[in-house]
Amino acid sequence: VKRFLLRCLHCGKEYDPSEVEYTCPHCGDRMGTLEIVYDPDYLKKTIKKEHYEEFSPKGIWQFEELLPIRENGWRPPLLVGNTPLYDSTNLAGKLGVGKIFIKDDGRNPTASFKDRASAVAVAKAVEKGYDTLFCASTGNAASSLSGLCAASGLESYIFVPASAPTAKLTQLQVYGANVIPIDGSYDEAFDISMKIGLKENWYCRNSAINPYLLEGKKTGALEIAVQLNWKLPDFVFVSVGDGTVLSSFYKGFMDLKEAKLIDKMPTVVGVQAEGADAVIRAYEKGEPFEPEDISAFSVADSISVGKPRDFLKACLYTKRNNGLFVRVSDEEILDSIIELARTTGVFAEPAGATAFAGFKKLHRKGLFTDSTRVAIVITGNGLKDLKAPLKILKSLKKVPANLDRVREAIKNDS
Ligand SMILES: Cc1ncc(COP(=O)(O)O)c(C=O)c1O
Ligand SMILES: [Zn+2]
Repeated sequence: VKRFLLRCLHCGKEYDPSEVEYTCPHCGDRMGTLEIVYDPDYLKKTIKKEHYEEFSPKGIWQFEELLPIRENGWRPPLLVGNTPLYDSTNLAGKLGVGKIFIKDDGRNPTASFKDRASAVAVAKAVEKGYDTLFCASTGNAASSLSGLCAASGLESYIFVPASAPTAKLTQLQVYGANVIPIDGSYDEAFDISMKIGLKENWYCRNSAINPYLLEGKKTGALEIAVQLNWKLPDFVFVSVGDGTVLSSFYKGFMDLKEAKLIDKMPTVVGVQAEGADAVIRAYEKGEPFEPEDISAFSVADSISVGKPRDFLKACLYTKRNNGLFVRVSDEEILDSIIELARTTGVFAEPAGATAFAGFKKLHRKGLFTDSTRVAIVITGNGLKDLKAPLKILKSLKKVPANLDRVREAIKNDS
């Protein structure tokens, strides 16, 4: 039998899943985020390499033994996870790095990494008897939750900044969510969502608050391990907003280590935009970690977070595992969208390309050699935000429908 408990990151108190819904009652929503802890004996006895395949038709549910949900319970009918991990010889050759693997998580059903968390949120909601879920989101968790709810016949209430990219807002409407576009920041939308959602007794799919979400996200790390046949990369790059995705990569690898399936953690690198670097600020201040909230702005809307809700976990896991953080500018993010697309064929939204920008920054500092193996997680598809790359692309000029003029245009262009 799968056994797990929930442990407060702040006071260390442990709870049975039946005792607590979201966060530690003593430490509150911000400091009292909970982590899921499996019984080490269960992990060692049950989790075996041969249970997992490189591409499973089950998607993330192939890792069910490592997820805190009821065995053989209800699962949403969309294929989540199972995203490709490309070995980009092109990029590795160009940069003189041993191996560069690109995890293309924009290939999920609603085109972002967030589907991994939403799938678990929806499964958990049904397990607990809820028929309505809510979330606040910069856009991707929102479109993800609305898509998974649509597929599952559940209702969703979504609090998003009205300034989110059109594609993400459109997804919400198309999926039939109840959309509340807030004329304010993501941080404001988050606080409002909590006040209304909990009062209405809807199930909360908010990052950090709901401890089960990170467990869904950690399947990204598990897939990388399986896809590389358990020979883990030296570095894994992930972009950071609230800090849940970053923490989930640590957690995935830590669980594998606890289960004795791997013996060494990769160096996980969290990448933030310079204008939205609140997690890094908290980390740099040192222990005991406290929030360092700011007013955030970045071209990478998904990680434009000033009041990161999972900062404590992100900081503690990074410290405990000797991880790294790096900041990148908006300019570096935009350039990275183009370079990544032109060398690998993977079109990332700004927050996805941020991970690549972080890698490039450390590459310029000379951190990697021709034997270093690197994985870069692309968390969202580029079609989610077409305005961002257009900021630096030349605008297209119309050519008359005339053979000579077209030939002339081709010549002038090349
Ligand atoms: C595309 C993308 N990348 C990265 C992140 C960062 O995730 P987290 O907020 O868990 O740090 C998000 C979150 O919205 C996202 O949508
Ligand atoms: Zn506590």
